[in-house]
Amino acid sequence: MTPASAGSRRIRKAVFPVAGLGTRFLPATKTVPKEMLPIVDRPLIQYAVDEAIEAGCDTLVFVTNRYKHAVADYFDKAYELEQKLERAGKTEQLELVRHVLPEGVRAIFVTQAEALGLGHAVLCAKPVIGDEPFAVLLPDDLIWNRRDGVQGDGALKQMADVSQAANASVIAIQDVPRDKTGSYGIVATEAFDGRQGRITRIVEKPAPDAAPSTLAVVGRYVLSPRIFDLLETTRPGAGGEIQLTDAIQALLAEEPVLAYRFQGTRFDCGTHIGLVEATIRHALDHEILSDQARRMMSEALAEMGVSDSE
Ligand code: G1P
Repeated sequence: MTPASAGSRRIRKAVFPVAGLGTRFLPATKTVPKEMLPIVDRPLIQYAVDEAIEAGCDTLVFVTNRYKHAVADYFDKAYELEQKLERAGKTEQLELVRHVLPEGVRAIFVTQAEALGLGHAVLCAKPVIGDEPFAVLLPDDLIWNRRDGVQGDGALKQMADVSQAANASVIAIQDVPRDKTGSYGIVATEAFDGRQGRITRIVEKPAPDAAPSTLAVVGRYVLSPRIFDLLETTRPGAGGEIQLTDAIQALLAEEPVLAYRFQGTRFDCGTHIGLVEATIRHALDHEILSDQARRMMSEALAEMGVSDSE
């Protein structure tokens, strides 16, 4: 391993590629970026940001496009709103608005001039990241590790711990049905040791019969800065885009990269049904809404003639 490899050092910086057009959620995304779609009361991006902060990141790099101001506005200070809430004595709401980012955490915005793919988006963050391991979080993938009101470590925190201990890059994976391999990066690995296994191959969106396994990449990565050099020479791949997956495949020849089966549940909020599922599950487990949501859900199912066991 080169001295610049991932691991040993704790990650401090996280990259959020948010330049996508979100066409799947049109017409809503005509004016609201998909990262700002809410799950109950918080936008998708907030969940990913909180996960990064919990993992120890204090520098958040948003790779955005020149038309998307909502994400930057959201993390900016809202002077007028804060003044109004303060004057009205609405302290609880004021705290919510102020703590979108905790003190000591900074948000940096980088523009991706052209939509050339995820790999290209990550490369745009290079000047801010420099020569240290970093995280990439795709906010579409909402992951939480909470069961019956008990909060476990977030996926990225788990990965940062593994990365630091193993001195390696780490990529989150989960099993998917074989007919879904064409929607994901798919990895082949050595035998797993607990939740982790060394990746031997990674392919972007292979057809089911060409997929080396059914272990799919989920949008959480802890990467060695070496990835930037590799991205610079990565040619367009699947879908004609510069793929992060292809640069990771090149990284495998130089440094260890681990696949990590995280603890927690992942919701694919890049799809309609995933967003709905995340909303329902969040409401069912919500500290205030839970009872009401559970009742409402059973009533709705009963009304539709669907029994709970179906
Ligand atoms: C991206 C990655 C893919 C990964 C997926 C996870 O694809 O390119 O390897 O499996 O995120 O959500 P996208 O969903 O942006 O097409």
